[in-house]
Amino acid sequence: MGNNILEVKNLKVSFRTQAGTLKAVRDISFDLKRGKTMAIVGESGSGKSVTAKAILGILAGNTIIEGGEILYDGKDLLKITEEDFHNIRGDKISMIFQDPLSSLDPIVKIGRQITEAMLLKSGTNRREAKKEFNGRLATLKKEMIEAQGKEHETEIKGMVKVFDKFCIEANHLEAAYNNAYTNAADLLSYTEDFLFKLDKKQRLDVKGLLRDYRKRLGKIKDPFLTKGFDSRIEDVAAGLSKAALGYNAKQNELTEVTAAMKDLEALLNEITTQQRPNFFRIGFYKLYDPNANLDLPNAELDEVALKVLNENFMDRFFALTKEGVTYSYRQALERKKAIMPKLSEARAFFSTDFSKAEANKLCKSLSTEIEASIDQLEYIKDSTAYTFRSSLSNAIEKYFFYLKRNPKEEARFERQTKRREALIARGKTVTWKVVPKVVYEKDELRANILKIIDRMEEHYGAYIAADSSIDFEQRSVALIDHFKEKASEVVYRVTKSMAKEKAIKLMEEVGIHEPRLRYNQYPFEFSGGMRQRIVIAIALAANPDILICDEPTTALDVTIQSQILELINKLKEERGLSIIFITHDLGVVANMADDIAVMYAGKIVEYGTADDIFYDPRHPYTWALLSSMPDLDTKDKLDAIPGTPPNMIYPPKGDAFAARNKYALKIDYEEHPPFFKVSDTHYAATWLLHPDAPKVEVPKAITDRIRRMNEKLEGGAKDV
Ligand SMILES: Nc1ncnc2c1ncn2[C@@H]1O[C@H](COP(=O)(O)OP(=O)(O)OP(=O)(O)O)[C@@H](O)[C@H]1O
Ligand SMILES: [Mg+2]
Repeated sequence: MGNNILEVKNLKVSFRTQAGTLKAVRDISFDLKRGKTMAIVGESGSGKSVTAKAILGILAGNTIIEGGEILYDGKDLLKITEEDFHNIRGDKISMIFQDPLSSLDPIVKIGRQITEAMLLKSGTNRREAKKEFNGRLATLKKEMIEAQGKEHETEIKGMVKVFDKFCIEANHLEAAYNNAYTNAADLLSYTEDFLFKLDKKQRLDVKGLLRDYRKRLGKIKDPFLTKGFDSRIEDVAAGLSKAALGYNAKQNELTEVTAAMKDLEALLNEITTQQRPNFFRIGFYKLYDPNANLDLPNAELDEVALKVLNENFMDRFFALTKEGVTYSYRQALERKKAIMPKLSEARAFFSTDFSKAEANKLCKSLSTEIEASIDQLEYIKDSTAYTFRSSLSNAIEKYFFYLKRNPKEEARFERQTKRREALIARGKTVTWKVVPKVVYEKDELRANILKIIDRMEEHYGAYIAADSSIDFEQRSVALIDHFKEKASEVVYRVTKSMAKEKAIKLMEEVGIHEPRLRYNQYPFEFSGGMRQRIVIAIALAANPDILICDEPTTALDVTIQSQILELINKLKEERGLSIIFITHDLGVVANMADDIAVMYAGKIVEYGTADDIFYDPRHPYTWALLSSMPDLDTKDKLDAIPGTPPNMIYPPKGDAFAARNKYALKIDYEEHPPFFKVSDTHYAATWLLHPDAPKVEVPKAITDRIRRMNEKLEGGAKDV
């Protein structure tokens, strides 16, 4: 349930081309688990990039999304508006492409390319945070009143008002603090630049700068920021004045200036790294007691304010919140239970013939009930429930559309085929081909509808089964934290110099030396590996949840390649990123992936954990990929996969890999194999797994490799 951050369901993508409709992605489904790496592996043209681009909503104009869903944060990414997508792209989901140059603007300095996204999103983020805060608080109030009964309504309304009010008070205090803090951070950044330039012996207007610094020092006054620093600020200011007076431009005597700047740097470092006061608590304290003594050291003030807040407000408010959260959950759960039989009825209804009006009516009433059964206080949005209405109504729409269109399409195809044949019979050279027909069987269309009902039923079934394991205490803490976080996002304004400092930190994080110098350089001044690091920094600038890496290392040489892979792994751990990693090389994902999907001709043919795929591969295509993977310990030459992938305008009947597969069975040429379950985590679509299939030995190259991997493991080496 809450485990998957992204779910791709039955995605089908085609392209209109001059030669006909090219079926690039043919019904694939997979889940990306929170904090994990999922690799998509397959040969060129198998549909990997198309899948990635569909997730990001950046497919070309000739794309036809034939069906499916991409669920993220309560939304179906295939159905949201471009404006919504704009907020998700880069901000929540970022992508790194194969060729770093294609994602960098050659004539814009690196620094600006990193900071641009941060600055661009700042305003939207604040508006969104405000909306989120107000909306959730209104829901919480409603649920608390319902949980407690009408007689507590006045108390609850009063408390919610106080909560809102002191969050606003906290906002004001924090905004003033942030403003002063930004000035301090700016000044620190200038100071470091200045010291850097001194070091590099660059020409500087020393006197002018020193005067400027003095003036700026006056702007960092905020009672919470400079508490306890007042006398030191005066000392540093005096030091700057003295240095300015004593400085002689002709002799360029810099000792005193350098000393004054070092003092300034140390002071600012201390000011900007001290513990942030907890404005949430202080906001309440100030509101509760207008005579409150705010002049204590920040840490002490935090303690005092916390005590006042808890005793006079939060203990009670938290208890009410917990009851509201519990009530909201229970109500929603009861509604979920009530829907289960209705889902069964709906399945029966859609299993026989139905009219459009009836179908739409049922869709409407069912969707309304499902939406009413969503727990609005649940922190992670229930994507399956939120998107149920649009999925079902689309499937119904499609059902009637194709039922009406199919006969016309058949007729067109027949007419054109006849005409073409007639021309050929008369000895004419015909250069055009008949556009293949697109018809859907009624059963197939019906199955699309039923799948949505089944999925919903399974999903709510899992919910109902998990009932006893909910920790309401923890949920309530998370909710209050969420309010605090949103309240503080409302006042968080990103300025240019804050963005610059953040960019420099990011450049350090991705392993760029001398970031302050590099910040002002152009892409051509970087090596390929460095450029890819910059691209990663840009992708991380907005702090995304999901990172899609599309062959991020193919353009790089082997040593650099492994460094970049290491970097991606490090970032995943440190930032809790969820990653989709796309590559044609199984070898590359050995140390990266938690889960692997092997793709061939627009379909996933095998799916499992990295261990499943490397130690127990089942599909002949996976065997082929594994045998073509270089291995340091064997001198055997690599087995290239024979033949070429099929033309996807005319995808072959049955298993698309059959023609290249020496283990192909007769049925492989007739019918596409379904997924056979190997274990709870492992599935493969090959007829070889059918109970009636002849027994086929796993190729020796593969068993040898597995043996070697096991020996290595036993020998203590970690690498596969
Ligand atoms: N805009 C488009 N118009 C027509 N065909 C397209 C378009 N984009 C992609 N395709 C086709 O879709 C198929 C899948 O392409 P995709 O880019 O996903 O392959 P891939 O698996 O990423 O391969 P590679 O390893 O070469 O990057 C290919 O046959 C490709 O030619
Ligand atoms: Mg690609």
